[in-house]
Amino acid sequence: MSAQILDGRAVAAEVRSQVKTGVEQRVAAGRRPPGLAVVLVGESPASQVYVRGKRNACHEVGFVSVSHDLPADTPEAEILALVDELNADPGVDGILVQLPLPDHVDPKKVIERIRPDKDVDGFHPYNMGRLAVRMPLLCPCTPHGVMTLLSRTGVELAGLDAVIVGASNIVGRPMALELLGAGCTVTVCHSRTRDLSAHIARADLVVAAVGRPGLIRGAWIKPGAIVIDVGMNRLDNGKLAGDVEFDAARERAAWITPVPGGVGPMTIATLLENTLYAANELHP
Ligand code: GUN
Repeated sequence: MSAQILDGRAVAAEVRSQVKTGVEQRVAAGRRPPGLAVVLVGESPASQVYVRGKRNACHEVGFVSVSHDLPADTPEAEILALVDELNADPGVDGILVQLPLPDHVDPKKVIERIRPDKDVDGFHPYNMGRLAVRMPLLCPCTPHGVMTLLSRTGVELAGLDAVIVGASNIVGRPMALELLGAGCTVTVCHSRTRDLSAHIARADLVVAAVGRPGLIRGAWIKPGAIVIDVGMNRLDNGKLAGDVEFDAARERAAWITPVPGGVGPMTIATLLENTLYAANELHP
């Protein structure tokens, strides 16, 4: 069997087009376009690429994009003051501070300072808590984007054994809450997990979010499983690779996401959805 490919680029393009239509309707009704503030501290090349992608996507759907690029040595207090300013700005519906931040800045403090109704990343403990108690408001973009992709398979998720590899605040933990909410039996594996291959071998759904190329061997995948690869690893040859051995896993899975072109584009598409939602529903 060769798995069907879950084409994140195509699904993300559909989502972006829906958001664009939503913005047009909003503006036609006489309301201002949604505004997204993107804050980048420092000059990490990877972060610069991600932030450029987010800002370009804003323009494409008709948002107002507010850019703040700060030097790497910006004091924490100055970043917090900028967040306060954006919190108070009625033209800003969403605030995104790109992570990771330089070592002298505590990301928890910065995330907690963002008004929860402008936290379009969904990282504030208020939004994580709402997701945990099944009252989601603004959900973390990558896991929510994975749920959108999963909905395109038409597979009923309730009752599936789902195994998530990676327990980060950005992906693994909120992914577990999303899948639990969808009725999956969820296992979260992490760096201390004893027998990773045994967990993977009984999973109907695998979500890999570790950041180690090829960690998940194709031979471990249960025949007919759904495989979602959140990994984005730059190899020595310059190519991007996921956490899953793609070619071997594809022979066993029913559905699989490629890297690149799988989960990656869904993160930005979901960020746009969150920002439009914040503008329409949370800032009327
Ligand atoms: N760094 C890596 N992924 C993300 C993300 O989704 N949001 C932010 N703010 N930073 C990130």
